[in-house]
Amino acid sequence: MTRQLHIGLSLTPTWLKGKAADDPDSRPGGDPVEFNLALTRMAERAKLDFVFKPDYLRMYPGIGGGHVGLDPTLLMTALARATQNIGLVTTVSTSFNPPFVVARQIQSLHWISKGRAGLNIVTSIEGAENFGDAPMPPPETRYRKAAEFTQVMRRLWQSYPHAALTGAAPSAAIDHHGEFFSVAGPLNVPGHAAGPPPLFQAGASDIGRDFSASIADATFAATPDREAGIELRNDLRCRAEGHGRGADSVRVLPGLYFFLTGTREEAWDLHARAHAHLTPEQRRKSVKSVLGLDLGDLPPEARVTAEMLPPPDTPVRSRTHADLLRRFIEANRPTVAEVLARPEVVGSAHWVSVGTVDDVLAEIVDWHEAGALDGFIAIPGGSLRSLQLFLEELVPALAQRGLFRSDYEGATLRAHLRLGDER
Ligand SMILES: Cc1cc2nc3c(=O)[nH]c(=O)nc-3n(C[C@H](O)[C@H](O)[C@H](O)COP(=O)(O)O)c2cc1C
Repeated sequence: MTRQLHIGLSLTPTWLKGKAADDPDSRPGGDPVEFNLALTRMAERAKLDFVFKPDYLRMYPGIGGGHVGLDPTLLMTALARATQNIGLVTTVSTSFNPPFVVARQIQSLHWISKGRAGLNIVTSIEGAENFGDAPMPPPETRYRKAAEFTQVMRRLWQSYPHAALTGAAPSAAIDHHGEFFSVAGPLNVPGHAAGPPPLFQAGASDIGRDFSASIADATFAATPDREAGIELRNDLRCRAEGHGRGADSVRVLPGLYFFLTGTREEAWDLHARAHAHLTPEQRRKSVKSVLGLDLGDLPPEARVTAEMLPPPDTPVRSRTHADLLRRFIEANRPTVAEVLARPEVVGSAHWVSVGTVDDVLAEIVDWHEAGALDGFIAIPGGSLRSLQLFLEELVPALAQRGLFRSDYEGATLRAHLRLGDER
């Protein structure tokens, strides 16, 4: 039987990018909590696995409409009490938070939501200036800290097992003393009957992949084309086995940045409006920041070749995004104009799909059949209408083909993600 897709919805109002922010129908307006709740209820009606909140520990540019950066975990507690089934995946940086606090908050969200919490672990690209004077630690240090953080958090979750509530098991100290953290434990919130909250991860450099393969139940992936998805998924499946886990244990969920309307022409128009605010100069700056490559005043029709690339170890904000763009240039010898239109340059390197419901549906089916994904995280682009079409027409069409559930079969995130009972 075909494995059904896992589908999450990003709650970041990405449809407000560029000129799209001028569309009054798409503005969150009013109360951001009510707005997020309305979106979550829509996603729950479509029986999605989860809603998902990326997070940055600083004022974030690029999204218009007066974006309000509510703490995602606190927001999820409000959504939890007003919904019944949908999973609630928050994002926490392991670089700037103590594991005891996070273990407690996530286990609390798990209780508040009756087993629907999930945690997206990020090592963060920026934001160090809000936590002291030290610069951002290098990626290797951030990942070492993330690994220790995750180990401590999991041990804290185990330190007060659910069975201790009935006296069937003891709680116990963890007495952890490591490179970054010293934590005695036990945690003061017991485990939930639903099992531990599933862990997500984003970041796909070599160490990022290894970290994901060792701890994650799902990866939020940036895969601008199908081949990138196939390569990442095959690699994570192999690496998971290398860590003594099953090949299926890490669900690969690319971001799907979609622009949906009634006609292909209108959809491309929406797409153009969302990116029209980015001038060629800004795009050239973005290439410099993503890849470390200065395009100078090369004309749009000039070819960008592998020989022009800076050394692979040039410091960059995110290795994942740099490697994706590097790979595209090596494989295609694109023109400057083609480079300036790439998702890695104009956005977050996500898979962009533009067209009618049938067009985008066909692309999802194609990626699924090619083994490029286990599901995806929906990132609505262009307008709120695009999101409505997705939830009200595209998702039901996937269900009709047997590629998605037509009703919830469980009430916990672990059940939606079809995670085993291993605790
Ligand atoms: C698809 C994707 C989504 C990410 N989302 C976030 C986020 O919401 N918040 C954050 O602080 N960092 C986020 N990151 C950054 C990663 O956690 C990580 O710090 C960064 O990618 C560097 O790791 P890398 O060298 O493995 O790419 C994201 C990265 C990727 C690839």
